[in-house]
Amino acid sequence: MLQSSDHAALLSEAERLRPNSIASLLDQNPNRVIELTIRGAELTLDASKQLIDEHALKALSDAASGADLAGAFEQLVTGAKVNITEERAALHTLLRGTGASELPALTNEIDETLSRMRAATEAIHSGSHVGASGQRFTDVINIGIGGSDLGPRMVCRALDEVSAQLNTHFISNVDPHDLDVVTRGLNPQTTLLVICSKTFTTEETLTNAQRARSWLTDGGVSEASIGQHVFAVTTNLSAAAEFGIEEKACFPMWDWVGGRYSVWSAIGLVIALGFGWTAFMSFLAGAKAMDEHTRATECTKNIPMMMALLELWNTRYLKTETHLVLPYSQRLEYLADFLQQLTMESNGKRVTLGGEAINEVTAPVLWGSAGTIGQHSYYQLLHQGNRRFSADIVLPLTNGDVDRDAHRKLASNALAQSRALLIGRSAEESQILAADKGLPSELAPHFEMPGNHPHSTLVMDSVNPETVGALIAAYEHKTYFLSVLMGLNAFDQWGVELGKVIGKQIRATLESGEGLNDLDASTAALAAAWREANS
Ligand code: F6P
Repeated sequence: MLQSSDHAALLSEAERLRPNSIASLLDQNPNRVIELTIRGAELTLDASKQLIDEHALKALSDAASGADLAGAFEQLVTGAKVNITEERAALHTLLRGTGASELPALTNEIDETLSRMRAATEAIHSGSHVGASGQRFTDVINIGIGGSDLGPRMVCRALDEVSAQLNTHFISNVDPHDLDVVTRGLNPQTTLLVICSKTFTTEETLTNAQRARSWLTDGGVSEASIGQHVFAVTTNLSAAAEFGIEEKACFPMWDWVGGRYSVWSAIGLVIALGFGWTAFMSFLAGAKAMDEHTRATECTKNIPMMMALLELWNTRYLKTETHLVLPYSQRLEYLADFLQQLTMESNGKRVTLGGEAINEVTAPVLWGSAGTIGQHSYYQLLHQGNRRFSADIVLPLTNGDVDRDAHRKLASNALAQSRALLIGRSAEESQILAADKGLPSELAPHFEMPGNHPHSTLVMDSVNPETVGALIAAYEHKTYFLSVLMGLNAFDQWGVELGKVIGKQIRATLESGEGLNDLDASTAALAAAWREANS
């Protein structure tokens, strides 16, 4: 946890630096970009457009030492029970081989599961495992929610360029419309389901799994051969068996993998099915390379540590209210959705590990979308609204064999936005612009933009399995380091449980009409309206 002396030093550094402009820091130091650009595992982080300087960086790296980030990472990767409220380790790093020599027994279980996943994937691709009518599979639908959906969904979208072996689809929402739209146009005879649920108790997933099963049987897949079309991934093998999924079609995961950290486990089966075993292995290798970088690199050169320190600096000391993730790649269009769960479910907490109240903000509100789409929507608020924010611009340098001119336009937008966030437009420039437009000078403030918005640029050569693996791992470790700095548990999610409990009660009320009086007046009126509309 952050030491109080480090906290005091950071407060005074923020006080000192706040009046400065990032643009002038860049002007004053010709080496700034070199000094604040760090590399690891095929990713480059350019932090030169953050409101930091040498002294602030020193205070941040002292804070990292004071909180022993390096020691905390060793604890994580060697299986310490960092999730104290569930008394579990959080060993997602082991799933990609990090710490394997320290944990041989678990590694054997992982290897065994990987072998089974590989065999299943290759049997589908070779045509030795076919659908009920003897036809090869063409499509796979992943059914899951939260961590059992967002990671694989994001990665499958990102791997667009890798030649697809099966078309991948995702069903998540309990709203039947989700399933209906996804299955529209698919052939049940050539479609495989992967039901992903760590607990196998999640209402949305079980409801969708049941409906998808009926879709298969309605489409002519007999009850007797339905097993050929369904895989499950879960820690709860007995619940999957009760659901009718045979043991040989179930892939285990373990309670020491958090849902939002589970894309490296059999939860990633859809990635292998969609894009091949080699791609899945490369994805794991990219993450492992980031683990190795994180384990071996000193703080100010360590990408995840620097990302965490910058998030702490911006959120807690420069008082930014929100953090944007802006990938200039359509392939990364689901990155922000994935990171919302990773960041906000992990660190959206209000007590320390010891149960004391945290009076400062913890996780930032994270949002974003693929550039340049956001530019024509909410960037107006970024440039001229009053909100304080930080951002990560994610910039793949190459874009496969696509229209070069369009790719150049995309990259120009990324660089232009980064520069606009930096320099803004001054009062003087706005006066000139107003005059050029023939407008009175009192309208010039409408053209002003403060600029000076702290942001990093995360650069990679291209979006490929290795870089996507490294990117996700970097954000995972950033999230953990932040939790260590804030002294909280990043691996539980008690905040989402209350809604599930109340949801069960209300479902019974919506069905029977009983229990309305036990609800508050507003919820009771809404429940009554729903009953009326559905009577
Ligand atoms: O509702 C939140 C949550 O518990 C997430 O943490 C988890 O990723 C998701 O539900 C799905 O859970 P499961 O994989 O057990 O169905």
